[in-house]
Amino acid sequence: MTLARQIVLAARPEAAPGPEHFRLEQRDLPPLGDGQMRVRLVWMSLDPYMRGRMSAAKSYAAPIEVGAPMQAGAVAEVMESRHPGFAPGDVVLGYFPWSDMAVSDGAGVMKLDQGVAPLSAWLGVLGMPGFTGWVGLNRIAEGKAGETIVVSAATGAVGSLVCQLARARDMRVIGVAGGAAKCARAVADYGADVCLDHRAAPDARTLSRQIAEAAPAGVDVYFENVGGKTLEAVLPRMNDHGRIAVCGMIAWYSGAEAPPPLPPAWQLILTRRLRVQGFIVTDHQAQYGAFLAELAPLVGAGAIRWQETVAEGLEAAPAAFLSLLAGGNDGKQLVRIGADPVGV
Ligand SMILES: NC(=O)c1ccc[n+]([C@@H]2O[C@H](COP(=O)([O-])OP(=O)(O)OC[C@H]3O[C@@H](n4cnc5c(N)ncnc54)[C@H](OP(=O)(O)O)[C@@H]3O)[C@@H](O)[C@H]2O)c1
Repeated sequence: MTLARQIVLAARPEAAPGPEHFRLEQRDLPPLGDGQMRVRLVWMSLDPYMRGRMSAAKSYAAPIEVGAPMQAGAVAEVMESRHPGFAPGDVVLGYFPWSDMAVSDGAGVMKLDQGVAPLSAWLGVLGMPGFTGWVGLNRIAEGKAGETIVVSAATGAVGSLVCQLARARDMRVIGVAGGAAKCARAVADYGADVCLDHRAAPDARTLSRQIAEAAPAGVDVYFENVGGKTLEAVLPRMNDHGRIAVCGMIAWYSGAEAPPPLPPAWQLILTRRLRVQGFIVTDHQAQYGAFLAELAPLVGAGAIRWQETVAEGLEAAPAAFLSLLAGGNDGKQLVRIGADPVGV
């Protein structure tokens, strides 16, 4: 028997989650059956969508049952294998429990090429968040040279890549981020022409005026990551035939900010002939190869920048997740669960 530590959902939060909604447990992992492998987690990803899985509400991802382990994308090392496709020492990417050890049947698990980038990058710029930014900009918003794009959560795992890809195709990039330091990074590292601090703006009207100044020709594309005050501020600035890629709305995940009334926005969608399209990255999995073919060489050449916030150890995961929801992360929020076999 191998002892694993894992973090389970202790209770469902009604509003903002807290430490009381998580519990650290130990459990024995059973001996491996045919077709199974045992992995040790190295890097674990924390992502805003996990807030949705803590709730019982119907969504695109099934709720986690109370008492069951939280789940995450993670990079792991195979320690023992009775699976024909994986051998001890392989480094893999997959979905695993928030745990230090796990048993997997290999479903949805992919072997990683260890030479392309630091292993942690497979959870950020080369992983689900980076792919989300690429899908949203290319397939949903269809951003074009010469257009103006607003990117909210502009320094986050998704937004920081959207800014860089938009800049590379000669769009005017207006980032929106929380705080002066993040805004400075959006301009210096991610190619934003301007970055507006939504936390410093007292209300949506002020932020909207700042957007109008930063986008004298109006906004053609809004890459929507947050909802809330930022959405309210951007909507009136949308040009005719503008596009909104609805990727996320973190301001509302825990019910903190009430959504603005729909009718005014609904009217704008008509009068400005906006195309508003929600998307979920997993629906676009067939494009992941095309994304990697474009991004991996850029990452290898050092042409893409990213930032990571690393929490140390499995026990630190709940606090790091709560901090992510409040904007405490700078770039991709990770948890280092065990030693990185590549030694970074
Ligand atoms: N549709 C999909 O398939 C898909 C896939 C991945 C992610 N997403 C969504 O994309 C968004 C970004 O995800 P990510 O992984 O890149 O996270 P992230 O941007 O790295 O981290 C979340 C950020 O959201 C911002 N934030 C938190 N509360 C806010 C509020 N009330 N108002 C404005 N901003 C707030 C904070 O940045 P500031 O400090 O700058 O405010 C925080 O750092 C999330 O909404 C997520 O759910 C969607």
